[in-house]
Amino acid sequence: MKNLVILSGAGMSQESGIRTFRDMGGLWEEYDISEVATPEAWARNPELVMRFYNDRRKQLYECVPNSGHFGLVGLEKDFDVRIITQNVDDLHERAGSTKVLHLHGELKKARSSVDETLVYDIDGWELKFGQKCAKGSQLRPHIVWFGEAVPAIEEAIPVVEKSDILVVIGTSLNVYPAAGLVNYAKRGAPVFVIDPERPQVFVRNVTYIQEKAGKGVEILKEKLKLLV
Ligand code: APR
Repeated sequence: MKNLVILSGAGMSQESGIRTFRDMGGLWEEYDISEVATPEAWARNPELVMRFYNDRRKQLYECVPNSGHFGLVGLEKDFDVRIITQNVDDLHERAGSTKVLHLHGELKKARSSVDETLVYDIDGWELKFGQKCAKGSQLRPHIVWFGEAVPAIEEAIPVVEKSDILVVIGTSLNVYPAAGLVNYAKRGAPVFVIDPERPQVFVRNVTYIQEKAGKGVEILKEKLKLLV
C-alpha cells in the first residue's frame, strides 16, 4: 500500500463550525491571541487563559466531524494514511481516522506545567485550578502556545519523507515549523492542496483543488483512484 500523508489545518474543521485563525484577523473569539495563547499570558493571567480554553473545549463538544473528515477515513481502505494536523480538536479521531498526530496539542487534554511529558485526559469540558499532575504542579491546557517549541515535529518529518502522496487541507501554511513540512515531500511525489484559496507550496507536481474540505475530499478521492 502506498503511504498517503495528510497535513490538515483550521480549514479542515471550518464546515464543522470552528472558525479558522486567519478569519479572525488576529482576534480569537474577541481575544487578542497574545492574551490567551502564549506562555506569558499563562504567567500573567492564568484565569483568563483557563477560561478561554474551557470555552473552546465546551464549544468542541457541540461540534461534529464534517464530510471531509469522514471522507479521509475511507481512504484507509486503499492507502496507509497518516494524518498530521495542526488542529487541536479531535474531529479526525471522532470521524474514525486511526493514525493522527497533533502538532499543536489537543484541546481535550491537559499537561503538567513542569513536565510536558505528563499528559492527561480532561474529564468533560472544564479544567480547574487545583487539578495537579503527578509531580504536584497545576495542570495547564495541552496546547502548543505561540513561542513554544513543537516537539511533535520530530515525529512528523520522517512521516512526510516517506509519503508517496501528500495532501494539504485547509492550512494557510503561515505558521512554522508546520508549514515547512511540505518541503520534506519526496522529489516529484504528487502533492494535492485542498483550499478555497491558493496557499503557496514550492514543490513540483502540485494539483490545487480550490474547494472547501468536504467537496474537495470528494474530488481528491476520484483523482486518487488513478494512483492506488
Ligand atoms: N475548507 C478548506 N479550507 C478552508 C476552509 C474550508 N471550509 N475554510 C477556510 N479554509 C482555508 C483558508 O483559505 C486558509 O488557507 O483554511 C486555511 C486556514 O488557515 P489558518 O486560519 O491560517 O489556519 P492554520 O493554517 O491551521 O493555522 C496554523 O496557526 O494560529 C495558529 O496554532 C494555530 O494551528 C494553528 C496555526
